Amino acid sequence: MALKLGIYKCAMCGNVVEVFIEGDGELVCCGQPMTLMDERNKDGAGEKHLPVVEQTANGILVKVGSVPHPMEPDHWIQFIEVITEDNYVLRKELHPGDKPEAEFKVSQSQIKLVREFCNKHGLWATK
Ligand SMILES: [Fe+2]
Repeated sequence: MALKLGIYKCAMCGNVVEVFIEGDGELVCCGQPMTLMDERNKDGAGEKHLPVVEQTANGILVKVGSVPHPMEPDHWIQFIEVITEDNYVLRKELHPGDKPEAEFKVSQSQIKLVREFCNKHGLWATK
């Protein structure tokens, strides 16, 4: 069974998908089950991965992390996502060479979850 808002990755080809309506089926890619990415928040280089939320005049600025994460061609933040209390999902795709940050027009009080996805180190979240 796929989890709502779960992020799954194919270990073979690198496809990443997010489930917006859950069903009973198993997600399969390249002939094998996809891996549910856990939202890490303790292990490894947390200072380079945990999202940091700052208030701005128009909303919030999410930085990855307290020490800026690399944005190199072989190691970068692929997206930053904000999920609100009223179930909006706001996502900014990033590319090598971009700053590891994104601004969202949402008030800090509406945030349910902020997460980011590193191509090497997976999913990290701040609640
Ligand atoms: Fe990383």
